[in-house]
Amino acid sequence: MSFHRALAGSSRVPGRPAARILLQRTYASAKATAGKCHEATHPDECPPETADLMESHSRYLLNTYARPPLMFDRGSGLSLWDTSGREYLDFSAGIAVTGLGHSDEGFNKVLAEQSAKVSHISNLYWNKYAGELAKDLVEATRKHGGLGLSKEGGDGAKVFFANSGAEANEGALKFARKYGKDAAAAVAVSGKDKALDKSGIVCFTNAFHGRTMGAISCTPNPKYQAPFAPLIPNIRVGQYNDMDEKRMLELVDESVCGVIVEPIQGEGGVGTGKVEWLEMLGKRCRKVGAVLIFDEIQCGMFRTGEMWRHSSFPKDAQPDMVTTAKALGNGFPIGAILVRDHVAEVISIGSHGTTFGGQPLAVRMGHYVFSRLSEPSFVKSVNETAAHLDSLLEGLSKSFSSLITDEKRGKGFIRGIAFKDESHPAELVRLARERGLLLLTAGKDAVRLVPALIVTKEQCDKAVAIMESCLSIMQEKSTSKAK
Ligand SMILES: Cc1ncc(COP(=O)(O)O)c(C=O)c1O
Repeated sequence: MSFHRALAGSSRVPGRPAARILLQRTYASAKATAGKCHEATHPDECPPETADLMESHSRYLLNTYARPPLMFDRGSGLSLWDTSGREYLDFSAGIAVTGLGHSDEGFNKVLAEQSAKVSHISNLYWNKYAGELAKDLVEATRKHGGLGLSKEGGDGAKVFFANSGAEANEGALKFARKYGKDAAAAVAVSGKDKALDKSGIVCFTNAFHGRTMGAISCTPNPKYQAPFAPLIPNIRVGQYNDMDEKRMLELVDESVCGVIVEPIQGEGGVGTGKVEWLEMLGKRCRKVGAVLIFDEIQCGMFRTGEMWRHSSFPKDAQPDMVTTAKALGNGFPIGAILVRDHVAEVISIGSHGTTFGGQPLAVRMGHYVFSRLSEPSFVKSVNETAAHLDSLLEGLSKSFSSLITDEKRGKGFIRGIAFKDESHPAELVRLARERGLLLLTAGKDAVRLVPALIVTKEQCDKAVAIMESCLSIMQEKSTSKAK
């Protein structure tokens, strides 16, 4: 939707700053908020100068996003301020990116220091922080659990740095294909099976792996795929969490080189992978010599309270590769693929590359951000606050059982609220935004909460209080419709 149409949908005069309304906004406490925010304190509108900018910019920007007529120009922690000076509580964190919050002081300092030193050189030369960050990611994975690495050592993994999540997945898919080709070639040499084509890739319903050609080919959503067909070949789609053994055998057969899956599906509705199912999948991959790729771009980096969603999974549910991006840079674009040694061995010089991936500025920021996210006291506080949010959300689903299902989706600070009516998630996101709270939809039926990991209990109280007000408006509306 263009901003013209968004403005047309607003009941207020387009472009007029809501000065009177702005003065009403401030939240003393969660309880006070619950009473106040039946009113829209932050209607979707902006000052005339901002509207003019949007109109002029829309002539130059490719129209790929439906945006409300809001422009944010400042942030701090979980707060964002728009060009009218209105403050919003951000429970979207730039789509699960800014784990340390907006405009973090330490982040800004390191960014300034490193950019004054050197930003970009190229992968033709060594740079210190690429290696330091790779080492930290692998050794922290060993310590926290993940990639099946042994706590005692003796095994290992290597890291390839990319610029985004889609690019990390693209690399992982390429590595799986190379691994499969090498395996098929080895079998052919031994004369066992000359014709084996081991290039199949398996993905799952409701997955989201990104917008590049390989990544959308593994994102089985007609909205994303159909306009860009034909996609890359030899991709098959399984049912997420399907425990049927026969279907699993057919899906992951000898022709499969790789399986890509999100242990918690971010965009697809915060569907949560059953550990028993991921275990079954891991076992099957090992049986047929396929590599298991976990896409933890949204759910990794301590968002669930653990370094990886799979950190505490049993051995059979451990992947051969894991991809990350988003929170690793806290807003500085970076992605990474962690590859177990047996897969890394098939990747040689020239197999893959990137101009920007692993550049000094990106990896310095990743190194700094990761050091903060992995601090034990930080992780402890993430888990404590997440438990508080858990209890609030449980209360919410009980109070609004006519609108919300009792299904618990996600973990820690990647949480989904599942609605019975598919028109409701977008309505809650809009009503909340008009009351100063930024949320996200996910899939067809869910609202997603992915706040910065520095979120406080009070901010959780405030967010849930605003949601309560919005849900009661929605409930009243549903009840009066039914009468
Ligand atoms: C699980 C997952 N994988 C991949 C991506 C793509 O990442 P990017 O947008 O950085 O390319 C996303 C983005 O939302 C994601 O959530």
